[in-house]
Amino acid sequence: MDVFRKKPIKKASLGYMKRNLKLKDLILLGIGAVIGTGIFVVTGSAAADYAGPAAMLSFLVAAFVVILSGFSFAEFASRVPITGGPYSYMYVVFGELSGWMAGWFLICEYLLAVSSVASGWSSYVQGFLASLGITLPKALTAGYNAKEGTYIDLIAALVVVFITVWVTQEAKKALRLNNLMVWVKFSLIALFIVVGVFFIEPSNWKPYMPFGFSGVFDGAALVFFAFLGFDAIALAAEEVENPQKDIPRGIIGSIAIATVLYVIVTLILTGMVPYTELGVGDPVAFALRYVKLDMIGSVISIGAILTLLTVTISMLYSLVRLIYAISQDGLLPAFLQKIDQKHRTPVRATYVAGGIALFFAAAFPLAILAELTNITALACLIMMSLGILRLRKTMGQPKKGEYKVPFVPVLPWLSVLACAFLMSRLQQATWTVFIITIVLGLAIYFFYGYQHSHLAKKEK
Ligand code: ALA
Repeated sequence: MDVFRKKPIKKASLGYMKRNLKLKDLILLGIGAVIGTGIFVVTGSAAADYAGPAAMLSFLVAAFVVILSGFSFAEFASRVPITGGPYSYMYVVFGELSGWMAGWFLICEYLLAVSSVASGWSSYVQGFLASLGITLPKALTAGYNAKEGTYIDLIAALVVVFITVWVTQEAKKALRLNNLMVWVKFSLIALFIVVGVFFIEPSNWKPYMPFGFSGVFDGAALVFFAFLGFDAIALAAEEVENPQKDIPRGIIGSIAIATVLYVIVTLILTGMVPYTELGVGDPVAFALRYVKLDMIGSVISIGAILTLLTVTISMLYSLVRLIYAISQDGLLPAFLQKIDQKHRTPVRATYVAGGIALFFAAAFPLAILAELTNITALACLIMMSLGILRLRKTMGQPKKGEYKVPFVPVLPWLSVLACAFLMSRLQQATWTVFIITIVLGLAIYFFYGYQHSHLAKKEK
């Protein structure tokens, strides 16, 4: 048995896609995937339940961890520019089992992220409907929580159905909407900052760290979620005109822009409202209603409702292409490769991914979904940093024009430790589900992937 057999770089590439994405498209793709539920929803619970006004420090800690991994992504994306992201990178450097596990973590991360954002979206829709006097029956307002009397998140389920159908249509169309929505998202955040800054009560920032440093780090493990999606850029490598240069720039650029916005928004949010009151599903709109700016609150709600849609679209878009790439290598069933003749998109992979995301979005509350998304993402980032160490051994130093992670091996090891540290702050239930996920991933590989892998066929 050879679980270390490696995918040759040349053969790893697909071929049906066009190279037409530029740096601007990449940053828009990145921001489109990154800024979403994290800032519009999760910030509230990070401040109320974890870090208090120091939630902005949580964002900085999380950004630090993400940027450390961003370097590894950039070097891989520039030296191994093929579709599939960490899945293909690990397949190339460590071999098939690691490649599959990275792919499996990524699939879980993206699936859960689609569900999480749908769930955050549902909070905004419900907040907006409530301001019009419309409320759903309690049982249908959130995922399963018998104590609270909630069973299914109806609105989250409906939105997943909608975006699944959308993503099966021509992908470019979906991304065009995405680009437009990124501007809406910027405008909303700018509106919130420009208005909110006048309603800051500095006394709300005291005590600044009610839960101490421990709260800041726990908060960081949660708000790490807000940065996920930057890897969507690396996953699009095959469709980028100038991948060597533009992918690293796209990744680092979108993380930097997101960090600045997150810190400012959190600062203003916790300055406007006492942190103890921020544990709501739509904190940004809530803060404006809190200072009696109901109209602007509604504008933000409608904007968030529109823009969170684009986050789910970008995530599902990337997820589907990943499943397609894995199935092309034989590690997932071939029926997932069917391309819709009219729209040229992997239609079956989209329906399967959408169906599973639908289940999670409807059945689980956001806090659980976000933590699970984070743990799988962090596991994948650890593999990426270890992968850079391995890449340098097998392929040597980057050539001129390729992106180079600075301070190897110190920086990748620091990244491994930082990710492991954030993982250690997540709840025990999250760890239990994570371990089940690993076992399930291994089972799929040993009972299906190993035999059906195209590399296995070649060996024969
Ligand atoms: N980073 C994405 C968001 O905040 C997942 O919604």
